[in-house]
Parts: sequence; C-alpha cells; structure tokens
Amino acid sequence: MPLEFPVSLNEILELVWKKLEKAATNRHEGWHLASVGTIRDHCPELRTMVLRGADRNKNAIWFHTDLRSPKLTDISTNPSAAILLYDPKSKWQLRLKGSFHFDSDSNLTEAAWKKTSPSAKRCYQGPSAPSSVASGPSSNIPDDKVSPDAGRNHFTRLIFLIHQLEWLALDSDGHRRASWRLVEGSQEGTWLNP
Ligand SMILES: Cc1cc2nc3c(=O)[nH]c(=O)nc-3n(C[C@H](O)[C@H](O)[C@H](O)COP(=O)(O)O)c2cc1C
Repeated sequence: MPLEFPVSLNEILELVWKKLEKAATNRHEGWHLASVGTIRDHCPELRTMVLRGADRNKNAIWFHTDLRSPKLTDISTNPSAAILLYDPKSKWQLRLKGSFHFDSDSNLTEAAWKKTSPSAKRCYQGPSAPSSVASGPSSNIPDDKVSPDAGRNHFTRLIFLIHQLEWLALDSDGHRRASWRLVEGSQEGTWLNP
C-alpha cells in the first residue's frame, strides 16, 4: 500500500490503526506476523504470532492461542509485554508496550472459533500441551478422527492492551519517528529523533 508521508501525529496514529486493522485480516500485510515478547523467569521470551484483530477504541490488538501454552503462564505471572511489527513494503516499524490478558469465553472469542478453519482447529486438538516435551518429531495432531469442533476448550483470544506505541518510518530522505502514550483515554504523542 503506497502511503503519502504523513506530517501530523494525529494523521500517523490514524494510519497506524488502519494498517493494524488491515493486517489482522490480510496475510500479505507486513504487520500480519508479530514478534510477541513476554517475561519468563525475569528474561524476555519471544515468539511469532498471527495478528487477529485490532480495536482502536480499546487500544487493543489480539491473537489466538492455546490456553495450555507457556505464554499463558508468563502473562499470569507478569502481564507486561512488548510487541514488534515491521512491514517491509511501507518500511514502517511499530514497537508496542502494554499488558496481556486472555478472553476464552466471550461472544467475540466464540465467533473467532467459529471462523477458524478446520485445519487451524486441528492445532487445538492435540492431546499434549504446546511446548511440552515430545518423544519424537510429533505434530501433536490426533491420529484418530475427532469431532471437527474439538479443541474449543483449548482456544482463547490473547488480548494486548497498548500503553505505549512507537512508530518508525524509514525513508531515504530521512527517517521519521514518533511515540504515543495510550493510557487513561489520552493519546499523548511526541516526535522523536530517529
Ligand atoms: C509464522 C508463525 C505464526 C505463528 N502464529 C502463532 C499464533 O498465532 N498463535 C500461537 O499461539 N503460536 C503461533 N506460532 C507459534 C509460536 O511462535 C510459538 O512457537 C508457540 O506459540 C509456543 O510459544 P510459547 O511456548 O511461548 O507459549 C506461530 C509460529 C510461526 C512461525
């Protein structure tokens, strides 16, 4: 998506949210895959996750995951987290700081499960928890036929509330950078030197 270079902080924030919303539904968007960092044993722990939704009114983005995965233990110990996104087409990087919580049984989560493809549902049907030790190169997908809807009890939305958002746009004429604090209803932004 070619973007005119925006000059106002409000305009940039608007474009950032539009891009997040688009990336959540379009796998060809650079921001579709996020590097998601939690804290485990006082150390950063990173993994790739697919961005599934964005709601600018709540300053929230979300992902889908298995309730049994260790990242859920991470966030119950320390909900603070960071997320990194980069889109090579627009050359826009987004660094997010905030906190995670999970939502396993709202209407939105139910709707997300219903929209999940049968092949993606199979990832939630394995008998073992994700990241548990396997005796060999296991896919952790059940061999026997299971109900196509099995796995719902393992499925959750993982919701990230953004407290701080930092944007960096690379440009041959000079990079541009800005950050916003998105807390308590305020959207306080400031330019930064790149
Ligand atoms: C391209 C890609 C997309 C992925 N998307 C997800 C995802 O949306 N949700 C998820 O839980 N894991 C996803 N994974 C797997 C995670 O990176 C990670 O290996 C797994 O969630 C276990 O993480 P944990 O042990 O920290 O809980 C993805 C991996 C790749 C390579």
